[in-house]
Amino acid sequence: MHHFEYRDGALHAEDVPLSTIADTVGTPFYCYSSATLVRHYRVFAKAFEGQKALICYAVKANSNQAVIRTLAQEGAGADVVSEGELRRALAAGVPAERIVFSGVGKTRAEMAAALDAGIHQFNVESEPELDALSEVAVSKGVEAPVAMRVNPDVDPRTHEKISTGKKENKFGVPWSRARDIYARAAGLSGIRVVGVDVHIGSQLTDLGPFREAFSRVVDLVAMLRGEGHDIRRLDLGGGLGIPYEAGDAPPPHPDHYAALVRELTQPLDCEIILEPGRLIAGNAGVLVSRVIYVKEGESRRFVILDAAMNDLLRPSLYDAYHEIIPLNQPTDDQRAPVDVVGPVCETGDVFAKARPMPPLAAGDYVAILSAGAYGAVMASAYNSRPLVPEVLVRGSDYAVIRPRPSVADLIAQDRLPPWLENRA
Ligand code: LLP
Repeated sequence: MHHFEYRDGALHAEDVPLSTIADTVGTPFYCYSSATLVRHYRVFAKAFEGQKALICYAVKANSNQAVIRTLAQEGAGADVVSEGELRRALAAGVPAERIVFSGVGKTRAEMAAALDAGIHQFNVESEPELDALSEVAVSKGVEAPVAMRVNPDVDPRTHEKISTGKKENKFGVPWSRARDIYARAAGLSGIRVVGVDVHIGSQLTDLGPFREAFSRVVDLVAMLRGEGHDIRRLDLGGGLGIPYEAGDAPPPHPDHYAALVRELTQPLDCEIILEPGRLIAGNAGVLVSRVIYVKEGESRRFVILDAAMNDLLRPSLYDAYHEIIPLNQPTDDQRAPVDVVGPVCETGDVFAKARPMPPLAAGDYVAILSAGAYGAVMASAYNSRPLVPEVLVRGSDYAVIRPRPSVADLIAQDRLPPWLENRA
């Protein structure tokens, strides 16, 4: 469910015609719907009502201050994976005690920043990381609350680049070593073992892999408690998928996901931590672009947009499907296959191949849907294309929440060394 729909033939974000924003802000731009962000958060939170659950929005999905604050106002915590994300979450108003810190390569400086802030939990992924955290915590005279992220060796049945819970993936500690590592952690000063963490992948569209992974983790908690560890928290990661393609079977509803969590974890009486990212932000955002040219190739027609792979990388990187629709609602069902591409000098700069599309002409606006998660955050300035602006809509209001930098801004980021300063 989202709040991008045609009204009187014009695609709106809530009560604002997207073409109005396009005319004032220029294209390309990302546009997010507050109502959709809030709705998704509430649906997810409601599903977990009655369970001791802390919902930590995975900031990596969309880390704009306005997006994080919108969710923080709803009571969301944050899952962060860098000092940058930690600072963004704090600056947006997420209380430190609702922040968990994930990731395989936290530096000592990042650990220090998180300890100073007083975060809820570190999700630790290796023994060397545990040793480093122990040292940093001891040097500060504090204790770090720790959950070990375990690798349950479960196939999440998603794209291989976003699978994280198989033993060949870099994530988590090996299942067979978990018991020993917990024993070691318990003896380390500066470390307070509080939980177990697992995250098996992203864009999961069926509950089976979750069931498999969570069942294993529940058994592990029972075993660890038997060994004397005071395990009170269970962090189950994120990963619940969203619909990208109209007509696809919808992924499981959060209610069913929450029911599964309840069924498996209730006997443990743990605090449950959840880290949804895509589910909250994915369908709350679109990328609006303009057709620059329509070009007739030898064997196919190319629709060349002013947005490109540097703005939205998912189709190029994961062959991801994103719906593309014109801002002006087509008046009939006429469709012909076209390749929708960007202007970047790479063959992989393709948003859609042989996609049946209504007639499009130079100057027409289109919206690339489901681009709210892993869109703007993964953008780059490749080909010296400045990052595109982000706009947030709420009802009939909209605001630019990250302005478009100028090319002069881009150039000004570079510095000439002394020996190149003179033009001659
Ligand atoms: N927790 C951890 C530890 C994670 O690594 C991730 C995502 C999440 C939570 C949030 O997962 P979500 O609920 O959003 O599925 N760029 C890729 C997705 C990468 C996901 C990385 N980790 C894409 O565009 O599909």
